[in-house]
Amino acid sequence: MVAFINGEYKDEEKALLHVSDLSIQRGYAAFDFFRTLDFKPLFLDDYLERFFKSIELLRLNNTYSRQQVKDIIRQLIEENKLAVSGIRMTMTGGYSQSGYEPATANLIITQQKLATPPEENIKEGIKVITYEYQRDLPEIKSINYLMGVWLQQKVKEQQASDVLYYKNNIVTEFPRSNLFVISKDGELITNQKNILEGITRKKVLELAAGEFPVIIKDITLDEINNAAELFMTSTTKRILPVTRVNDKIIGSGNAGQITTALHTSFLSFERSAVK
Ligand SMILES: Cc1ncc(COP(=O)(O)O)c(C=O)c1O
Repeated sequence: MVAFINGEYKDEEKALLHVSDLSIQRGYAAFDFFRTLDFKPLFLDDYLERFFKSIELLRLNNTYSRQQVKDIIRQLIEENKLAVSGIRMTMTGGYSQSGYEPATANLIITQQKLATPPEENIKEGIKVITYEYQRDLPEIKSINYLMGVWLQQKVKEQQASDVLYYKNNIVTEFPRSNLFVISKDGELITNQKNILEGITRKKVLELAAGEFPVIIKDITLDEINNAAELFMTSTTKRILPVTRVNDKIIGSGNAGQITTALHTSFLSFERSAVK
């Protein structure tokens, strides 16, 4: 695979950063991740908007325009000839003399094969555990997944696949996905505060508008336990049912009707978006 690094297209193995980069010294960088279908980026403008927002909020010393990043992506897709893929854009804190203050930002863009969830997870859903934690600067997509990675062992010990964060009884999101609840009254509920606003979440809200009553509000742990259906959304997972929270079975214990219907419409929506 060819990667872009600071103005050059190189073999991935040669796309290297100096050890003084603030991403290595302090875990300080913004990133974003989108998919390609049929050699075309999916919802690219949405992802670029969020990437540039993260860059600005992290106060990185960025020297690239949105158009330049778009051109690099187009070139990378041409070089790698991978129709279905994930593309990751990372902008780091730069080579910092003090090891603490941001310097000129480094930009790396890589392309990779996609690992999407197995079919059985889409049908049966996954188990998650809950954990009290609030991400720092939640509206920023930063490379800091300290808690999520640290919790991996606990997640495995509980035979779960992921962890749902909550704080003061209010649930927020998963380390890499947003949350949707379908209430017993058939309302589609998602939260707004203290989360990263996912692009998949945004598209699901667009798809659901006019089809279901949509409510955006704080969601309590009780509402999770009493939900008719739950699902998570993310770029790689699309729409993935959550059928167990700790030891509580949600709904029938399999993917619910509304989740499955939304998943089907999401698949056709993304196909039509690259036509
Ligand atoms: C903290 C967090 N929340 C939500 C998401 C889902 O966002 P998207 O649908 O844009 O992938 C991500 C994606 O990685 C994330 O890191």
